[in-house]
Amino acid sequence: MISTIHNMDIDKAPIGVFDSGFGGLTILRDIRKRLSQYDYLFVGDNARAPYGTRSRELVYEFTLQAVKHLFAQGCHLIILACNTASAEALRTIQQQDLPTLAPDRRVLGVVRPTVEKVGELTHTGHIGVFGTPGTIASRSYNIEIEEMYPGYKVHGHACPMWVPLVENRESGGDGADYFVKKDIDLLMSECPDIDTVILGCTHYPLLIDKINRYTPQGVNIIQQGPIVADSLADYLQRHPEIERHCSKGGSCRYFTTEDPDHFSPLASVFVNEPVKAQRIIL
Ligand code: DGL
Repeated sequence: MISTIHNMDIDKAPIGVFDSGFGGLTILRDIRKRLSQYDYLFVGDNARAPYGTRSRELVYEFTLQAVKHLFAQGCHLIILACNTASAEALRTIQQQDLPTLAPDRRVLGVVRPTVEKVGELTHTGHIGVFGTPGTIASRSYNIEIEEMYPGYKVHGHACPMWVPLVENRESGGDGADYFVKKDIDLLMSECPDIDTVILGCTHYPLLIDKINRYTPQGVNIIQQGPIVADSLADYLQRHPEIERHCSKGGSCRYFTTEDPDHFSPLASVFVNEPVKAQRIIL
């Protein structure tokens, strides 16, 4: 109780970044490159990843727990660096939970900024989206793209094996070659006119070498990290009432629901600096 009251008193705090596991580190890395002056607090729910094959109710429940945890740490701004959580939980959190939980704080996702980029890249108007089964089933990308660009056609393809390959450190192995090639071939055979593909899961940049290898030449591959970083920079500029609550010191602390000895070595590789994570229970 005492610590809750203490935390609620904090006026400035790090920006919270959340993912089900390692994938959000690909977003965090680019955000920190672009906005290095701020402090960050990363939470990976590795113990319960992957989210992409779970029910919408559970993804919402887990994401809300993480959001509450980051609020309790004082964060005024949280980025859901996870497409599954953005697609399945963000709207409810924004519309239903925030008004009572923390009306002055904000939770943002990764789908919207990615969709805004699509119009600059496609010529054919046929967009492929790779995502987790949850993200694809939610049709979030279809809804957002078709609303923003009437006439565009979205071809979603779920890749249930890609996240487990990353979480189990198999992204460099032959199994990754097999599944990445198989899914790309399946999507492209559905519509050869696809000229732009969204990597709609923050884990997928960790498979980028293989994705590049098997994607037909001339097809644009959209990675979200730099896009989300630019969009956040723009957001902070337009929202000084939030920005002034974001502490500046260039630090980053890492928390995982899994064993930190399992998380830290791999996380260090992804973010290119030594990571010493702490364990939390959400
Ligand atoms: N990295 C997350 C995403 O962008 C979630 C992957 C998962 O846990 O299934 O969708």
